[in-house]
Amino acid sequence: MTDVSERSGVLSRIFATDPNAAPGDSHEQVVLCHDRDTGLKAVIAIHSTALGPALGGTRFHPYATEEEAVQDALNLSRGMSYKNAMAGLDLGGGKAVIIGDPTKIKTEALLRAYGRFVQSLNGRYVTACDVGTYVADMDVIARECDFVTGRSPEYGGAGDSSVLTSFGVFQGMRAAAQHKWGSPSLEGRRVGVAGIGKVGHYLVEHLIEDGAQVVITDVREDAVNRVRAAHPGVEVAADTDALIRANLDVYAPCALGGALNDETVPALTAKIVAGAANNQLAHPGVEKDLADRGILYAPDYVINAGGVIQVADEIEGFNFDRAKAKASKIFDTTLEIFALADSDGVPPAVAADRLAERRMAEVGRLRTILLPRSR
Ligand SMILES: NC(=O)c1ccc[n+]([C@@H]2O[C@H](COP(=O)([O-])OP(=O)(O)OC[C@H]3O[C@@H](n4cnc5c(N)ncnc54)[C@H](O)[C@@H]3O)[C@@H](O)[C@H]2O)c1
Repeated sequence: MTDVSERSGVLSRIFATDPNAAPGDSHEQVVLCHDRDTGLKAVIAIHSTALGPALGGTRFHPYATEEEAVQDALNLSRGMSYKNAMAGLDLGGGKAVIIGDPTKIKTEALLRAYGRFVQSLNGRYVTACDVGTYVADMDVIARECDFVTGRSPEYGGAGDSSVLTSFGVFQGMRAAAQHKWGSPSLEGRRVGVAGIGKVGHYLVEHLIEDGAQVVITDVREDAVNRVRAAHPGVEVAADTDALIRANLDVYAPCALGGALNDETVPALTAKIVAGAANNQLAHPGVEKDLADRGILYAPDYVINAGGVIQVADEIEGFNFDRAKAKASKIFDTTLEIFALADSDGVPPAVAADRLAERRMAEVGRLRTILLPRSR
């Protein structure tokens, strides 16, 4: 048996037994899938099934190394456990990555081969879309596999998850406004949205409807033009750097991860950060820098859970109104996190992790009460 100290980086993360490691640091199961003929190389990481089948999307990406792909699957699956726990779902956390450039190697046969590997887990992992995979791909995977969500409406699917993702982010932002200023309304507040893609452009609509002054930026001119055509009153900042300095009340990062870092946090004018992007905190410690500057941070995985709530609903037969009602609870959950952060004297990101870990432990433990004939 390999001594713990001799394990490589990836294995030490999967088999983490260090008593100082956080409860979320080890993984339940990691499956490497290989089909030479189609070129499929995939990693399915199941972080935790404490709350139920592990739900999380499939990322299709040309990783520089296989090690990097495994690390990404481990990070992403861990994040899904926390996101699904805080979304109040009876689902654990998992995520898969397919290694390669989707524009070059994605074929029907490769996706179906992947579907057969997901099927082999017999429901321990349920897949959905992520970067590089789309609703139409889920329909193909579903031809080999029963454990797929985020399919097209023609197949009973929930379709585009950014609809409820943006709605949930808006609810989280309203909760932050309530906590910071005593009212959830964003009327008259200046809100900067960085990235007006699928989620960002819907968020702009919610904000305008609520009476906010919106400032946008995006690297894609067509995305900016589309929002400006629909809402001529929206201001445009030259880039994200200009946006965060633009005398904002709220900053909503809706592009890529790592938006909050050692350069951006000191430059922020906003008093609230609430956006859709995953993994906004570039490294541990940034959450404290935000708190030290008096900036209220609405934890990303809590407020961007509307999309996973939407696709999770599909497992029971999709009902938009029911999914929207669940996503509207993000408002209360975010308030609960701020209250715990205040009472425990920790940043909201730490409070969110504590609440998620508490739910996984308390609700997950219930399975130790034996139900005859179940395992
Ligand atoms: N779509 C969902 O349901 C969902 C759910 C949860 C989290 N998220 C996260 O929300 C974020 C946005 O997702 P999306 O689905 O809208 O993606 P998207 O690709 O449709 O939109 C992202 C936008 O950001 C822009 N962008 C990229 N780099 C930029 C930069 N440096 N400055 C300004 N703009 C930049 C892109 O041009 C694009 O318009 C991502 O981080 C995603 O992981 C999305």
